[in-house]
Amino acid sequence: MKTREIVQTALITAVIIILGIIPPLPLGFIPVPIVMQNLGIMLAAVILGPKKGTLSILVFLLLALIGFPVLSGGQAGPAVFIGPTGGYLLGWLLTPGMMGYSLSMPFVNRRWSRLAMMWVVGVLAVDVIGSLWLWLVTPISLVGALLSNLAFIPGDTLKVVAAYLVAVRMRTWDGETTRL
Ligand code: BTN
Repeated sequence: MKTREIVQTALITAVIIILGIIPPLPLGFIPVPIVMQNLGIMLAAVILGPKKGTLSILVFLLLALIGFPVLSGGQAGPAVFIGPTGGYLLGWLLTPGMMGYSLSMPFVNRRWSRLAMMWVVGVLAVDVIGSLWLWLVTPISLVGALLSNLAFIPGDTLKVVAAYLVAVRMRTWDGETTRL
């Protein structure tokens, strides 16, 4: 990895951490808040691509795991990873890989289809993984978890569009950036 790539990866980790300063918005009906940090995850996936994107998120999650209060609301520690939001954290780690794979499919070649695929991975897949985990570790039913997650869709859809627009403008940042 070149120095420039290390700096880019670290910068995106920093962006994810800074987005965590924005206070989470509790929903009340599920123990999962609305956060801004998943915008940083989407940016990592589309700007850095699968490898560096995963690395930037892995570093962020490892910092959280060992106790740095980098998650939204200043949360940290292993308990968060096995708690109600643990599935989303796993989904975040998988996002750059899933995004890179899905955007490399030959039929995902138009702008709208690429944006739609970003939504499928960055919003739908993460919410489904999060819901499955929520169902496993809380008394909430699977249907209840999935339906509650519909509350995240409008905000997360705006985040995908924002990530797409930012990434399109930053295409020249790195030759390996995901094709948009
Ligand atoms: C954490 O800080 O412990 C993780 C929070 C996960 C929140 C999820 S990410 C997808 C969905 N969209 C949101 O705004 N909140 C949830």
